[in-house]
Amino acid sequence: MSKTILVTGGAGFIGSHVIRRLVQRYPHYRIVNLDALTYAGNLENLSDIDDLPNYLFEKGDIRDEAFIEKLFEKHQFTDVIHLAAESHVDRSISNPLEFIQTNIVGTMVLLNAARKFWASNMDGKRFYHISTDEVYGSLGEDGLFTEETAYDPRSPYSASKASSDHLVRAYFHTYHLPVVITNCSNNYGPNQFPEKLIPLSINNIKNEKPIPIYGKGENIRDWLYVEDHASAIDLVFHEGKLGDTYNIGGNNEWKNIDLIRVLCRVMDAELGRPEGSSEKLITFVKDRAGHDMRYAIDSGKIQRELGWSPSVQFEEGIEKTVRWYLSNETWLNNIISGAYEKYYSDQYHKR
Ligand code: NAD
Ligand code: TYD
Repeated sequence: MSKTILVTGGAGFIGSHVIRRLVQRYPHYRIVNLDALTYAGNLENLSDIDDLPNYLFEKGDIRDEAFIEKLFEKHQFTDVIHLAAESHVDRSISNPLEFIQTNIVGTMVLLNAARKFWASNMDGKRFYHISTDEVYGSLGEDGLFTEETAYDPRSPYSASKASSDHLVRAYFHTYHLPVVITNCSNNYGPNQFPEKLIPLSINNIKNEKPIPIYGKGENIRDWLYVEDHASAIDLVFHEGKLGDTYNIGGNNEWKNIDLIRVLCRVMDAELGRPEGSSEKLITFVKDRAGHDMRYAIDSGKIQRELGWSPSVQFEEGIEKTVRWYLSNETWLNNIISGAYEKYYSDQYHKR
């Protein structure tokens, strides 16, 4: 095995796509998936590849220093791809401390372990931190986030991710830890937990429940199909310049309300319902506190320097996503039958 890679958060949405890609494309790498299996972690996401010989799952918490050190000792990791995080803005508004602990302290524990175990020889090692465009704050009508945009996080989630990004860079400058960071826009696709806009709306439309749109639905996000994010991660992991940051985006901005209208059309067609039935479910609800207006990414650097560009068009990606959710009812039902119900009622019945 030429590399033993610790992937954190591999049972989550993006992590599971990253693991599948790495395990299948690089049979000579050993991929160790470390995940605490929080509400967002689901080993079913990896059931198609979990018996491959170069894949291994370890259950554990990135905040647990002793455990992480033992894991480094046991597996002698050559690389880390760090995705584990609390990832939902609404949850960060109701429970910010959890975000500080996982996203900041957890990242520190991993940085310290990498520093300690790689101290004698950093050659060929890599600590890859996965982050979000939300660290740059909120845009007005014009402009794009570049790698030089000053950080201006505005939610407990984005502030915790910004903090972890700063710490990763500090370890590069102070201890010469070989790090690389990417900041990506909103992902969508199969296996996303139905608390985020697109899978939540798919689930509600399927069950003929209201689609809750915050405020007037005018907030804008840039959307990237998850497998395109995984391909960018693969590339930056292999070819990204140490110490650098790369922005990743879909060049695909949508107002929430317009995106939901597209989704409604696709759902009507896929479910064989009369055109216009899903749109009737659109319900405007109380806005999110501190709701960022617009995110948009300039991904020119990764395109120019590493030759990456997104490959999935939005209509195609939405259709693939809808079809996946409709044909994976058990996956969805297993989630929504548990603690999800309580979350949903706490989050939406007060609005
Ligand atoms: P997710 O919530 O679907 O998955 C997070 C995973 O981390 C889960 O499997 C969970 O069990 C695990 N985890 C949480 N706390 C842990 C802990 N203390 N120890 C070990 N494992 C823990 O998140 P996602 O959407 O797949 O996002 C993955 C990463 O990508 C995050 O760092 C997120 O900030 C970043 N990101 C996400 C998006 C997006 O649109 N979803 C966009 C840009 C960047
Ligand atoms: P989300 O999927 O939570 O991602 P993020 O907040 O990280 O961008 O939300 C995407 C957009 O959709 C955001 O502007 C908030 C909005 N939104 C709703 O209007 N209704 C909802 O029920 C949710 C979850 C989000």
